[in-house]
Amino acid sequence: MSLIVIATVVLAFQQDSGNAHPSDPDSLPAAAQPPQAAGSAGTGTGGAQTGGAAAPGAPGAPAEGEAGGNGTSQSAAGPVTEVDKKFLIAVRRAGLWEIPAGRLAQTNSNNEAVKRAGHHLIDGHAMLDQLVREDAKILGVQIPNEASEEQQGWVAQMKAARGAEFDRIFVNLLRAAHGKVFALIGEVRAATQNDLIRRHSKVANETVLDHLEVLEDTGLVTKETLEDVEAAVSS
Ligand SMILES: [Fe+2]
Repeated sequence: MSLIVIATVVLAFQQDSGNAHPSDPDSLPAAAQPPQAAGSAGTGTGGAQTGGAAAPGAPGAPAEGEAGGNGTSQSAAGPVTEVDKKFLIAVRRAGLWEIPAGRLAQTNSNNEAVKRAGHHLIDGHAMLDQLVREDAKILGVQIPNEASEEQQGWVAQMKAARGAEFDRIFVNLLRAAHGKVFALIGEVRAATQNDLIRRHSKVANETVLDHLEVLEDTGLVTKETLEDVEAAVSS
């Protein structure tokens, strides 16, 4: 053994004996630290802060973009079922067409109650969209960046309409969509095993209730719209 090698070994031994034991996690470099739990599972409240997420690629952490239609996946906040994923996707898609719809109400309507409903859509979904993007990231659920084709078609209908015609289309399309998603939220809240999804469903429920109310306050919801919702939720 050369002198250089001996010196290196002695130096390494001295450094080691003067520090914490290598098995102490605090003495390990950041890259060797055990993975942190995702979210704030165990507190019962979850957590929307992305800083609470496991590092991407860490053992036990959901891979970015994973899931979204592949059965139940696991997270530190609990299992994420197909229904949970469908719910997050629905919340994301709601924001992607309701915010444009709310803005159109400000330009295409002359009805103050419709404009007010539009403001509620914009405000509610700005908040909810931030939350759904954070929670989906923490839970490893892939969410879309575009509204569905059907929703885009609804926005196109509203863009082309003005005044009373706009009001009728706006109120009834939105009232129908909110009635249907309200039923999905009940299903999620009743059965989810995931702390983060449970909290998310509470916030979404409050937002959807608010939107149902402001849409109904316009006095423009038709019997046909309510019958359409009833058929959809009872099938
Ligand atoms: Fe909404």
